[in-house]
Amino acid sequence: MKGVILAGGTGSRLLPLTRYTNKHLLPVGRYPMICYPIERLKQAGISQIMVVTSRNYIGQVIELLGSGAEWGIKFTYQVQEEAGGIAAALLLAEEFAAGERLTVILGDNLFEADLRPYLEKFLQQPSGMKILLKEVDDPQGYGIAELQDGKVIGIEEKPQFPKSRLCVTGIYFYDSQVFSIIKQLKPSGRGELEITDVNRAYLQQGNLTHEILDGWWIDAGTFHSLELAHQYTKNLTLNLW
Ligand code: G1P
Repeated sequence: MKGVILAGGTGSRLLPLTRYTNKHLLPVGRYPMICYPIERLKQAGISQIMVVTSRNYIGQVIELLGSGAEWGIKFTYQVQEEAGGIAAALLLAEEFAAGERLTVILGDNLFEADLRPYLEKFLQQPSGMKILLKEVDDPQGYGIAELQDGKVIGIEEKPQFPKSRLCVTGIYFYDSQVFSIIKQLKPSGRGELEITDVNRAYLQQGNLTHEILDGWWIDAGTFHSLELAHQYTKNLTLNLW
């Protein structure tokens, strides 16, 4: 199992903070944002991690994380030249994955739970993927899952009329099929390859499972959620340092 942190994008919802740096490097509590998902991967025993980020701030990302040797992590870096969407960023990890399964975390997703129990369940699956769901108050802002008899039957990206309040968090477990699925995707209305379309493809195959994520979870991509992220993390000490 290898890990991928997707830390691209323009961070437009956090302008002007993101005029001089990448969203994922902004301070949250005592650490740059990206350190939180990295710590969760490390805690789950994942030590080979690729960080995908945009060209303009990759220098800063490498300055922060380096080789990873001090934490027993081996970082690999990839540049996403254009903002082509989360799935397009993930495609850049194909060679790195080299046929292994992946835990993928969006770099602005901060959460309390230890990933190991979810990971272990995923590894029991013969193939496919697993998503982690969390109830949110503002479902129009996320990928939202519809459940029936305890199973996911639909996922919609930022629905105007959400069918539930269960958000698809930016923590995904994939088998190696994910890359062939991404290559078959067509860009969405906003011209991007959407991670929700990847997950829907697995759902159509009957190869998507889910769990409800324990503890607090936050996508720190807006001013409001960034403030909440500070509140959750202000007394946290990461084992990374
Ligand atoms: C992305 C995904 C969305 C998911 C969210 C979780 O949205 O597209 O499906 O629910 O991350 O953080 P974004 O925050 O990039 O708009």
